[in-house]
Amino acid sequence: MSYNIALNFEDGVTRVITCNEGETVLDAAYRAQINLPMDCSDGVCGTCKGACRQGQFDLGEEYIDDALSDEEAAQGMVLTCQMVPSSDCVVEIPAAASLCSKSANAAVTGTVDEVNLISPSAIELKITADADIGFLPGQYVNIQVPGSDKTRAYSFSSRPGSRELSFLIRNVPGGLMSSWLVGKARTGDKVTLTGPMGVFYLRPVERPVLMLAGGTGLAPFLSMLESLKEKGCDQPAHMIYGVTGDADLVCVAALEAFAEDVENFTFKTVVASEESNHPRKGYVTGHMEDAPINEGDVDVYLCGPPPMVDAVLGYFREQGIEPNSFHYEKFAPSAPAVKEKVA
Ligand SMILES: Cc1cc2nc3c(=O)[nH]c(=O)nc-3n(C[C@H](O)[C@H](O)[C@H](O)COP(=O)(O)OP(=O)(O)OC[C@H]3O[C@@H](n4cnc5c(N)ncnc54)[C@H](O)[C@@H]3O)c2cc1C
Ligand code: FES
Repeated sequence: MSYNIALNFEDGVTRVITCNEGETVLDAAYRAQINLPMDCSDGVCGTCKGACRQGQFDLGEEYIDDALSDEEAAQGMVLTCQMVPSSDCVVEIPAAASLCSKSANAAVTGTVDEVNLISPSAIELKITADADIGFLPGQYVNIQVPGSDKTRAYSFSSRPGSRELSFLIRNVPGGLMSSWLVGKARTGDKVTLTGPMGVFYLRPVERPVLMLAGGTGLAPFLSMLESLKEKGCDQPAHMIYGVTGDADLVCVAALEAFAEDVENFTFKTVVASEESNHPRKGYVTGHMEDAPINEGDVDVYLCGPPPMVDAVLGYFREQGIEPNSFHYEKFAPSAPAVKEKVA
């Protein structure tokens, strides 16, 4: 038994694939030369999220809540790496069909130019790629941690179209990539990057845009702002950038420069810590008064650690605001959290 699965892409393209009994939609698409957005293929990252608009399927119980919440599942959202159809289905894929061609996720080598600890909690990494990586502003790449077979996902913070890449990376104490960057990385080191990946990228700006960044979740927005600086922005674009403590507030000079150079772009910063002397304290959701919500006629982009992303999603639900479009990226850790020992 096999089933016909219609994949409806964001750009209006529909591709119909055949899914065998017991096969996931992700694997069936791969057989059909279609690289659907994916990262872990294990139900952990949420990158392969789509929406099933018709048909029966099983998602199993292997995926985690950070990848797909119960509420999202109840709304018909699916992880294509877990979805096993039991009838013909129609699945919406929130990416352009052109991003899903087989050649999209090539491995490229690059050379480390600079590693700068710009605050105790943030690292700026600059790499020159040996070949073009045609990424969209907001997408990410998997970087192999030198000396290991593990990779970590990082959003480009640099201008699309250039081989000079930059990344803004949280310094996680004891973390595999963090430790390599802080302790071992040297100018001239070679790294391997696989991508570009992800569906969190800036769509054509046709209405006001709200950008909500948490910590190093600022990275993809820096790339989006580079793109807006080049192309222009004739709609209001407002960013609220929230961090935990004063020391985590980085790249503010860069944001000030974007506010000068990108027409209609404004931003404000927010610090959560009680001890902070910052003029705006708390979480991003407590400082939405300048946000161009526009009775929902707004495109919202949200990126940061999973708890921040969940809190903002909850805020919009509670307020009953349904934006025209909502794009988000959770910076989910690749390694499981270390459990506290119970005495
Ligand atoms: C699509 C995507 C894009 C990403 N883009 C970026 C980016 O642009 N910048 C960026 O800084 N990160 C980004 N991340 C997160 C990044 O991939 C790594 O998870 C993070 O940098 C930690 O890697 P590490 O090797 O240093 O630590 P690991 O060895 O992975 O982790 C060590 C320990 O710390 C825990 N841990 C890891 N991260 C955190 C955290 N944030 N808070 C608390 N505990 C943590 C782990 O669970 C583990 O127990 C992204 C993640 C995804 C899924
Ligand atoms: S690719 Fe499906 S959850 Fe990561």
